[in-house]
Amino acid sequence: MHSQSSAVGGDSHIRPARPEDLGPLEDLEHEAFSGDKMSRRSLRRFLTRSTSMFLVGVREGRVVGAILAIERRGVRDARIYSVAVFSPHRGEGWGRRLVREAEAVAFARGARRMRLEIRRDNEASRGLFRGLGYHIVSPLPAYYEGGIDGDRWERELTVENGREENR
Ligand SMILES: CC(C)(COP(=O)(O)OP(=O)(O)OC[C@H]1O[C@@H](n2cnc3c(N)ncnc32)[C@H](O)[C@@H]1OP(=O)(O)O)[C@@H](O)C(=O)NCCC(=O)NCCS
Repeated sequence: MHSQSSAVGGDSHIRPARPEDLGPLEDLEHEAFSGDKMSRRSLRRFLTRSTSMFLVGVREGRVVGAILAIERRGVRDARIYSVAVFSPHRGEGWGRRLVREAEAVAFARGARRMRLEIRRDNEASRGLFRGLGYHIVSPLPAYYEGGIDGDRWERELTVENGREENR
């Protein structure tokens, strides 16, 4: 998988994450999340798990963002476990592109629904997913560290998530 971007310009693309991305992925976890961070060990495990769809956005050779989705075989579902963009690159369309690319990969692997949980106070993430056609399916009271509420969101994946349609 390798797609060149015109939307974000320059030498930019999204590709599968690799073991050598571990350093930047760990930095991204620390920059983007206050609680519920993934450890280096779990990042490493997710990099090699066959059910992982772990993608990075790269600009001029540097990782600028990442998404991890997990395939749930048998139920035709996939779940976005994490999506994050380094703060200097937020608002450039990377979040949207990473989600769309993960949806395309999940669709190609047979998933017909994408789900995720979002903190109720995470306006950027709520805005991102609402704009991409996701809707709330259930509230998750006190789901996060410190008793913070969240919601479960989802979106049906259709043929429009096929890769050709996704450029
Ligand atoms: C959420 C996050 C991944 C968004 O990434 P991004 O690259 O900045 O998002 P994009 O540039 O693709 O923006 C896409 C849309 O998201 C919404 N959005 C992005 N940032 C927003 C903000 N601060 N407030 C409200 N809506 C926002 C907008 O609808 C935007 O569309 P627009 O630019 O046409 O208005 C990024 O803010 C981030 O890394 N946050 C910290 C980690 C995190 O909270 N991850 C989500 C966990 S569920």
